[in-house]
Amino acid sequence: MNIILLGPPGAGKGTQASRLVSERGMVQLSTGDMLRAAVKAGTPVGLKAKAVMDAGELVSDEIVSALIGEALDKLPPETGVIFDGYPRTAAQAESLDAILAERNRTLDHVIELEVNEDALVERITGRFTCANCGEGYHDSFKQPKVEGTCDVCGGTEFKRRPDDNAETVRTRMAEYRAKTAPILPIYEARSLVSRVDGMADIADVNAAIEGILGAR
Ligand code: AP5
Ligand code: MG
Ligand code: ZN
Repeated sequence: MNIILLGPPGAGKGTQASRLVSERGMVQLSTGDMLRAAVKAGTPVGLKAKAVMDAGELVSDEIVSALIGEALDKLPPETGVIFDGYPRTAAQAESLDAILAERNRTLDHVIELEVNEDALVERITGRFTCANCGEGYHDSFKQPKVEGTCDVCGGTEFKRRPDDNAETVRTRMAEYRAKTAPILPIYEARSLVSRVDGMADIADVNAAIEGILGAR
């Protein structure tokens, strides 16, 4: 099964993808995570992407589609994939069709997380992750059980994304509205789109997605 999680910054794409990874053994392909890894490693892609990401704008279609193709080639063909944060433009949606067809994969669901944009700014600006294992936390919604210590790995270092400030978030949302939301009709025409209330509790959003994906 191959699915796309679609929604504006902070909608919960990463949160829900990681639930599906642990529950269903699917693999999460997040172009945001891949780009952040490239920036950290200082690769040519990372050097190109850094300023664009810091500004909250979109990295070029060629770069992200190449990353997705390379990542898929490393997976066994039967592995189910969750596309998180890709595609984000009409050109990327077209590339994804070709990338999947070349690998005899089909797209099964496009799940749109419907959210209230005003609430998202708080979600994003309060977000932090464990520097060791990547577990996600939030200043107001999900603090570690023991202050300063990761629940999962016991790590004591945490980090915040440089693009998680109120001003950049507004640009990221504007990019979503202008370039990403308009790709939904492409998938609606193929009857692939399901909508989920992304403002519900994390567990309820997960249950709604599980209902759409059906039996394991
Ligand atoms: P990317 O990393 O994809 O960021 P994004 O789309 O802005 O989305 P986020 O990761 O911020 O949000 P999310 O939906 O994953 O929410 P999360 O689960 O963390 O992209 C970053 C940048 O990379 C882009 O701006 C662009 O420059 C570049 N890029 C990436 N892909 C690209 C592409 N395809 N083309 C071009 N450029 C690309 O949740 C957020 C917070 O809310 C967390 O703290 C979480 O705990 C909390 N939370 C989640 N769900 C709930 C809930 N139901 N209730 C309460 N709190 C919740
Ligand atoms: Mg994310
Ligand atoms: Zn950890």
